Amino acid sequence: MNVDSFQETMYIEENPYKNDMISLIVSLKEKVGALAKALRIFEEKSINLIHIESRPSRVNKDEYEFFINLDSRNIPLLTDIIATLRNEIGATVHELSRKKKKDAVPWFPRTIQELDRFANQILSYGAELDADHPGFKDPVYRARRKEFADIAYNYRHGQPIPKVTYTEEEKKTWGIVFRELKTLYPTHACYEHNHVFPLLEKYCGYQEDNIPQLEDVSRFLQTCTGFRLRPVAGLLSSRDFLAGLAFRVFHSTQYIRHGSKPMYTPEPDVCHELLGHVPLFADISFAQFSQEIGLASLGAPDEYIEKLATVYWFTVEFGLCKEGDAIKAYGAGLLSSFGELQYCLSDKPEIQSLNLEKTAVQKYPVTEFQPVYYVAESFKNAKEKVRRFASTIPRPFSVRYNPYTQRIEVLDNAKQLKNLAESISSEMGTLCSALKKIE
Ligand SMILES: [Fe+2]
Repeated sequence: MNVDSFQETMYIEENPYKNDMISLIVSLKEKVGALAKALRIFEEKSINLIHIESRPSRVNKDEYEFFINLDSRNIPLLTDIIATLRNEIGATVHELSRKKKKDAVPWFPRTIQELDRFANQILSYGAELDADHPGFKDPVYRARRKEFADIAYNYRHGQPIPKVTYTEEEKKTWGIVFRELKTLYPTHACYEHNHVFPLLEKYCGYQEDNIPQLEDVSRFLQTCTGFRLRPVAGLLSSRDFLAGLAFRVFHSTQYIRHGSKPMYTPEPDVCHELLGHVPLFADISFAQFSQEIGLASLGAPDEYIEKLATVYWFTVEFGLCKEGDAIKAYGAGLLSSFGELQYCLSDKPEIQSLNLEKTAVQKYPVTEFQPVYYVAESFKNAKEKVRRFASTIPRPFSVRYNPYTQRIEVLDNAKQLKNLAESISSEMGTLCSALKKIE
């Protein structure tokens, strides 16, 4: 690539908000420490404040107004911050210049490094537990969760995922889950899962008395399909989580569920990721299918993100697939739940064919077994369905992932299309020559 075309690529892939600035007026009750509290909210989200000035409020005598300019790259976080300012410190917030045009394409990462931005865009920090969480009253568990959350929060693309020394208690919990689930896999899990599992035992330390390290697993996946793991500190938005899949990056938790209830977890944990998700990401067709969902999500309007997240739920998390005359499980939520893995293949739930128009709007419970499951003919077939569904998403461009540059290419101009045609033509040449040789 020459310098000119490089600059052009950079320009095409530039953040459309780059030259904009966000301005807010934040009114706070006059009280010692009020401004410090508000500023802490920006600091916690790593928001760069470019300019700030204050004046007594003209509307409310006991309030001060702060005029704040923010770096426009923080647009994705803005709704969140405004809500926190209003809810946590009772601020009145006016947004003056957020350039959110009606038809604007939502920001999405163009390079794999830009996934680092999600680290501080988590919706909830992994160390914060709900009151009904089994570990809520356990200070040791909570401190441990913070350690894991900090690892993920500080992680940057390209670094090895820090290895963790799991405690004896954590290993015991893993051992129970591992042993129980392994008895079901031969009869309940899909062919792909059963095919990869022994390889994970051989190369990645999948054993009853050992919790595999994310770094080892990530390296293994990269050699199989190019998928990689990155640790995540808490819950990501659907948009961010799905965007990771476009780069064949799976955001994975590293902590384990509370030892008091080894067969239950209210949230994804390392058992769910390693036993449920990882084996499938080592399969070529499944990896392509997952990436297809990710690519479809880039720049999609909010309502389509919700639909894609629902498709993800009924496939990657709770999907069933045909295997000859039998039906098997490939969804990670099933393959990591001893109870639901048996239930989903019983005659109790409703089973339907995967049909994205229908599946994408299906309502579902998150804390109990699913009342309905969708069966895919094959991963290849499911991928074609996602591709067709993606073509109905209103966005003014197509996208493609370039694995050499690890960038998303936005195919919205002749030059990009010509580059793609040349690359396909070269691949076709290789294919034809290989075909001739085996004739
Ligand atoms: Fe999951």
